[in-house]
Amino acid sequence: MVVNAAAGKGNTSSNDVVLWKNSYSVGIPLVDAQHKELINLTNKLYRSCMKGREHSKEVFMGVIRGAVEYVGYHFSTEEKIMERVNYPGFTAHKKEHTDFVREVLRAVDDLNKDTTYNPLAFVHYLKDWILTHIAVSDTAMGQYLLNLKRQGSLQTMTMKVKQVTQTGESGEGQKRLVLQ
Ligand SMILES: [Fe+2]
Repeated sequence: MVVNAAAGKGNTSSNDVVLWKNSYSVGIPLVDAQHKELINLTNKLYRSCMKGREHSKEVFMGVIRGAVEYVGYHFSTEEKIMERVNYPGFTAHKKEHTDFVREVLRAVDDLNKDTTYNPLAFVHYLKDWILTHIAVSDTAMGQYLLNLKRQGSLQTMTMKVKQVTQTGESGEGQKRLVLQ
């Protein structure tokens, strides 16, 4: 069974499909905190899959709605950071975000129509995309900011960001970006 294979990959518990590792840090605590939340949401979706198809559909779609909103909030945070520092990879990075959102919305639509309802495959797609994106694109963004810090041209940054939690609460707030 796919479920057992996924749960038995060594660094995951039976209740989680992915666990945060310090090596995932991109050196920007605000971004790392949001990545941890994305991992929490992926595990929440995974756990809803484990409860069986009948139970999972309604719960799963509810969690996905929160996840889509949180992903939008997270991407807008990263894009604001990249714009503020004139990050040269901004356009390509933003395109990855846009393509991912389009792909997720298409998958949600499929799940809704029930034609190709495969929530576990969707969870694995989310997990793989998040980990690859963090390892490559977000790490490159983090390195660029850390280089600016080393050169003395960036210490901290304060940004106005929309606060969104996984339960869908939202509001405006100031976030202070501190580089490690
Ligand atoms: Fe990103």
